[in-house]
Amino acid sequence: MLFSLQVKGYKSIIAGFKALSKVLPVPQPTVFSGPGSSLELCRSMAHLGEKNVLIVTDKVLRELGLLDPVMAELESLGVTVAVYDGVLPDPTNDQVENGVEILKQHNCGAVLAFGGGSSLDAAKVISARATNDKTVDQLKGVLKLRNAPLPLYVIPTTAGTGSEVSIAAVVSDSVTHQKSLVLDPKLVPRMAALDGALMTGLPPLVTAATGMDALTHAVEAYVSTMSTEESDRLALAATRMIMENLPKAIENGKDEGVRQAMATGSSYAGMAMTRASLGYVHAIAHTFGAKYHTPHGIANALTLPHVLDYCKFGSEDRLAKLAEVSGLPVAGKTDREAAQLFIDRIRQMLVEFGITETLEALNKEDIPQLAKDALKEAHYNYPVPRYMDQKTCEAVIEKLLVA
Ligand SMILES: NC(=O)c1ccc[n+]([C@@H]2O[C@H](COP(=O)([O-])OP(=O)(O)OC[C@H]3O[C@@H](n4cnc5c(N)ncnc54)[C@H](O)[C@@H]3O)[C@@H](O)[C@H]2O)c1
Ligand SMILES: [Fe+2]
Repeated sequence: MLFSLQVKGYKSIIAGFKALSKVLPVPQPTVFSGPGSSLELCRSMAHLGEKNVLIVTDKVLRELGLLDPVMAELESLGVTVAVYDGVLPDPTNDQVENGVEILKQHNCGAVLAFGGGSSLDAAKVISARATNDKTVDQLKGVLKLRNAPLPLYVIPTTAGTGSEVSIAAVVSDSVTHQKSLVLDPKLVPRMAALDGALMTGLPPLVTAATGMDALTHAVEAYVSTMSTEESDRLALAATRMIMENLPKAIENGKDEGVRQAMATGSSYAGMAMTRASLGYVHAIAHTFGAKYHTPHGIANALTLPHVLDYCKFGSEDRLAKLAEVSGLPVAGKTDREAAQLFIDRIRQMLVEFGITETLEALNKEDIPQLAKDALKEAHYNYPVPRYMDQKTCEAVIEKLLVA
């Protein structure tokens, strides 16, 4: 369960979200884009008068030396920095609290996230905790921030989550590892730098996993019943860019142009998801990802084709359009045939990227509970195009079992 709303009747909740999303303005960060843009962001932070900043990151990135130019730039501009590098994949309540402790010790007035979605999400909640007299658990759910967070700046180093533009942060319980969402437009960062040069060392499997996460955001937003003209435009652009550039990024990770296209495509997908929300792929991936510690992108990648096999009957025309923008040979094909081409291409990409369509850790006995939790998350949060019942969801998850 992602977060529980103690209300019956998911259709009325989704209807409420739809109405809310039409009137709720979603802010967007000022975006600096291109190789080297992370240093431009640092200069803007100094221009805006930031004097004392907490950098939230992980040890891997720090040890790779990727953070060094950013720290040097800030320090050369007279900005004092403290670093919290205790973020791990799928950050927990405790990691957020540890970051808040360091922020308080150093009296920081702003937060700079540097890393993948895990560092960005941890930083979002650290900056919200700093200005709201609430525990992390009390911040989980929808619109729980009373006060604006500390000014938040972000430099994503993966092209996947879209957290740099999203209203969401995902935090895992420190004991159960169950994932929960903090959802609030106040969480959208003030500024973001999409700097493809920082991503050239991302290993192929992490590139594949994070890229498939971004693709899943675009696809789920595009088939969502809450999609709008704007979210459609963004989702189609994201799909086009990811389908073209993800295989190239895995083949030659050093190509900055390809990395930059992935960073931009992933942000477009994040914007589309912020407007149109997600679907069963994320609901199922969140539940087993939390239980078996499967990386978020891998969990989405291996669930995506199975869910599309089910959802295609409600969204053939939409999947056909995704096939068309992916450059697949759709001329003369019916929507059903073109939709199938898209799903087949995703399966083929997984093989090329070395991602299996099954999950070794999955236990057959866990499936009923996983399906129950996934449906609870999906039906209270996501505007899915075709509803699943318990048995159908179990059958979809069973497809992930190793034969
Ligand atoms: N807030 C949102 O809108 C949103 C959306 C989707 C997912 N998420 C969350 O984001 C998290 C996943 O984020 P992620 O997929 O970006 O992975 P991640 O942040 O967990 O990073 C994965 C690994 O890649 C390494 N890494 C990151 N950048 C690197 C680089 N440039 N070079 C070398 N190594 C690098 C990290 O050190 C880490 O070990 C999950 O917790 C997921 O639930 C959030
Ligand atoms: Fe995701």
